[in-house]
Amino acid sequence: MPILEVRGLVTHYLTMQGPVEAVSGVSFTVDEGQTLGLAGESGCGKTTAALSIMGLLPSNGRIIGGEIILDGEDLLKKDESELRETRWRKVSIVFQGAMNALNPVINVGEQIAEAILEKEEVTRDEAWERVRELFDLVELEPGRVKEFPHEFSGGMRQRVMIAMALACNPKLVIADEPITALDVIVQNQIMELMKSLQSRMNLSQMLITHDLSVIAETCDRVGIMYAGKLMEYADVGPIFKRPLHPYTSLLIGAYPSIVGEKRPLKFIPGAPPNLIDPPKGCRFHPRCPYAQEICGREEPSFLEEEPGHHAACHFVDELRGTLSIGDG
Ligand SMILES: Nc1ncnc2c1ncn2[C@@H]1O[C@H](COP(=O)(O)OP(=O)(O)OP(=O)(O)O)[C@@H](O)[C@H]1O
Ligand SMILES: [Mg+2]
Repeated sequence: MPILEVRGLVTHYLTMQGPVEAVSGVSFTVDEGQTLGLAGESGCGKTTAALSIMGLLPSNGRIIGGEIILDGEDLLKKDESELRETRWRKVSIVFQGAMNALNPVINVGEQIAEAILEKEEVTRDEAWERVRELFDLVELEPGRVKEFPHEFSGGMRQRVMIAMALACNPKLVIADEPITALDVIVQNQIMELMKSLQSRMNLSQMLITHDLSVIAETCDRVGIMYAGKLMEYADVGPIFKRPLHPYTSLLIGAYPSIVGEKRPLKFIPGAPPNLIDPPKGCRFHPRCPYAQEICGREEPSFLEEEPGHHAACHFVDELRGTLSIGDG
């Protein structure tokens, strides 16, 4: 059962130089109790996709088209007051570096309790009871609810933020680079926590990260974004074993693997394009080692090339089986 279906989402930012085409027709699904990973280089539109779902775009952000169906309801047909009901109760988000956004002069339990009281019809005592349950859920000592942010380590503060995201029992939690600012050991602990929450609560998650090894370890499906578009979308196994898009294989090769053998890292030459004036045809063609004339002229369709495995490349058939990790 899908908990979230995003279909043909188009989100622009209005700027003096013209619209930034940050998300350009992206479709994906998060099934109940599953984790979808979204990966891609900086500036490819991952956060914009997340903020579109949350209804939290900055003031110059505009959703131009598409559908966002959350638990059977199209969020784009809701007005702001209806969205406020949905936000945090059905879907919540943990931002990058969110742990640094806690108010330093209010104890952490109070900050979570306030969030609960704002959304739910409960008494103060009930809210505090819930705070203690949430602490237990994210493996923090419930006895520490009245401590202040500076009394917790970065990893513990990120656990507090996860507790806050879970406060209203949402069906879906979006985590946007939840571990980027943490050291490697704490990163692993937080990812273990997210995985265990998924199985204990049947929670659905969308995990945005640069780090493909984290995706390989924690996600069920993955979407690889480039310049506002999905280049490839499939279950985690096939994406890492047999990528169908040159960008995916290059991206995998550009990150160290935490499992398996060590291999030399390869950089992807060039940089993602300016999305005010993205390249014609395939947006990746200026950097693609396999690009032919057609790639600069015609945009490849995003097709289901194998059951459940979508890719947007003119040369999927020619390249099939030849793209190794770090190819190019
Ligand atoms: N408020 C804004 N106004 C104009 N352009 C914006 C705004 N916010 C983001 N952008 C642009 O939209 C594009 C997508 O940005 P977004 O933050 O969604 O990327 P991202 O994949 O999350 O990147 P990162 O990995 O660095 O977090 C980028 O080109 C970015 O410069
Ligand atoms: Mg981002």
